[in-house]
Amino acid sequence: MQDKRRIIAGNWKMYKTSKEAVALVQGLEDKLDILTNNDNEIDGVEVIVCPPFTALKSIYTVLWQDKPPIKLGAQDVFWEDEGAYTGEVSPLMLKDLECEFVIIGHSERRTYFGETDETVNKKVKAALKHRITPIMCCGESLEQREVGETQAFIESQILGGTEGLTAGDMKRFIIAYEPIWAIGTGKTALPEDANDVIRHIRTVLASRFGDDVAKAVPILYGGSVKGGNIADFMAESEINGALVGGASLDVDSFADIIKNAR
Ligand code: PGA
Repeated sequence: MQDKRRIIAGNWKMYKTSKEAVALVQGLEDKLDILTNNDNEIDGVEVIVCPPFTALKSIYTVLWQDKPPIKLGAQDVFWEDEGAYTGEVSPLMLKDLECEFVIIGHSERRTYFGETDETVNKKVKAALKHRITPIMCCGESLEQREVGETQAFIESQILGGTEGLTAGDMKRFIIAYEPIWAIGTGKTALPEDANDVIRHIRTVLASRFGDDVAKAVPILYGGSVKGGNIADFMAESEINGALVGGASLDVDSFADIIKNAR
């Protein structure tokens, strides 16, 4: 599959002050032998960085001045445009900083902050309303995998998260499959197992939106991706790229992943 979309997104989680985040983006720009093509990709790979909210403005300023083909994403969003919601950040605020992407429903948000498929669905709709591309996360726990519930659980997350969306909405949509047991543990899924789950996600998408959508939606793998294993995931037919946590926090390791994803 030479012509598939290749996307590497860095999820910086609750790491990096705004100064550190700017330094990381600038280091990345220097390190990558940046080749911009007409699609604004880095040598065939779309690169997205998702810093904490507090660093979005300063990174936006750098990206705006330098215009490197690195795209900006946030790690979460609230579903209202504005209002008395202390601590929340709205899609309008993200749009104002040229945030083109937003991670929604990461397993850490589901586990620690009570996110459900319903809240994920509301956030997805709010992002789409403002033409921000959701990177909607799904993934099973170790217990679910061991008792053979992976496919049914992922199916319920995909159907719940995309409830009420149209095939048109899915043109601006990315899914990240991240088995919870592989996140930050150093244990990756076997590329062929990740490919099987992602194929199943495409079957679920086809049942709701048709075959064209199922084929076109980029689906990333996430969970302990590194420069040394990304090529194995990219070689799988259904995998479009990776959502990277720990290894995206360092210029050299993130640049390695991007280079090896080509
Ligand atoms: P990890 O995190 O690469 O550190 O495993 C992935 C993620 O949580 O998106």
